[in-house]
Amino acid sequence: MPLFNVYPLYDVTPVSANGVYVYDENNTEYLDLYGGHAVISIGHGHPKYVEAITKQVAKLGFYSNAIQNPLQKQLAAKLEVLSGCKEYQLFLCNSGAEANENALKLASFKTGKSRVIAFKNGFHGRTSAAVAATDNTAIIAPINAQQKVTILELNDIVGVKRELEKGDVCAVIVEFIQGVGGLDQATAQFFEKVDALCKANNTFFIADEVQSGYGRSGKFFAFQHYNVTPDIISIAKGMGNGFPIGGIFIHPTIEAKFGMLGTTFGGNHLACVAGLSVLNVIEEDRLMDNVNEISKYFIKIAKTIPQIKIIKGRGLMLGLEFDYEVGDLRKKLIYDYQIFTGGAANKKLLRILPPLNVKKEHINQFFKALVHALNT
Ligand SMILES: Cc1ncc(COP(=O)(O)O)c(C=O)c1O
Repeated sequence: MPLFNVYPLYDVTPVSANGVYVYDENNTEYLDLYGGHAVISIGHGHPKYVEAITKQVAKLGFYSNAIQNPLQKQLAAKLEVLSGCKEYQLFLCNSGAEANENALKLASFKTGKSRVIAFKNGFHGRTSAAVAATDNTAIIAPINAQQKVTILELNDIVGVKRELEKGDVCAVIVEFIQGVGGLDQATAQFFEKVDALCKANNTFFIADEVQSGYGRSGKFFAFQHYNVTPDIISIAKGMGNGFPIGGIFIHPTIEAKFGMLGTTFGGNHLACVAGLSVLNVIEEDRLMDNVNEISKYFIKIAKTIPQIKIIKGRGLMLGLEFDYEVGDLRKKLIYDYQIFTGGAANKKLLRILPPLNVKKEHINQFFKALVHALNT
């Protein structure tokens, strides 16, 4: 049976990985500054993570949400401490799109409204409401296009106010640092005004932290760089270090009702243990401190390279913008220098999304290769 051919693939076949390195079938070593699309948070094959998952799968890998699962409560308790989001409630699912789908659905249930405000170049996933709120017509099928979504420019506060005052908007969804779109960020004034406008108009403010969360921005959540209080926060990528798990934080004022949300696989035993071990490692290895230190180091070196025109993003969610398209440069970095980097909708942007425990020596390895690649 052929695979449904939807992915343009690089000709690399990783078979193992360790820390920030990935190895192919010939044992060629690749430096992973892409983290499997910002998913690898604590590094590949972290021994504590491997041990925790191995032990749990031998004990009980899965049971459905019909029984007591204390691991979910442990995960929620740890998340509350590390995120600093006091008294939010947690609903667990399996991916970023699913997290946003549940966030939008909950906003609609609770406000009784159905239109969504989202932003240009935003990406929220490929399920029904999430993809409709994504600014890419190529991935919106007619069945998704039935959703009522208004896409505005980032920083268009006049537009947000105008639309919210029409009274039919259930949610404003935003990435505080755009991922797939290309690392753009709105101003603090914009985010804080949107937050206030949502509160004044019975509209949920949804922070899509699927990519920017889990310490990647240098704080646990990217929205924490601002003075805002989201009603819902969606999480996924870094949460399981590759084990599929997602979730939403739900503000304490939002009441649950049996059956309102649900999932078969979400919050299963193995996923919770993966999630717990990720949080333990983030805490014990002080990975957020490392993010801030390495980010400063990276940006300092990037500033010395004349071909780099703009440095975007925060923490270890960074973008290097050139004044030409970087597709060939990415290929060169993979095939000639064995370094994975990321691309974006902005074709001039090279994305850097390494595991959060990347070290200075790896950054040096990258810049040595980049400078050589740019000058040969
Ligand atoms: C900000 C953001 N939201 C949602 C998603 C969708 O996540 P998933 O691919 O796990 O469904 C992504 C994926 O890239 C993302 O970057």
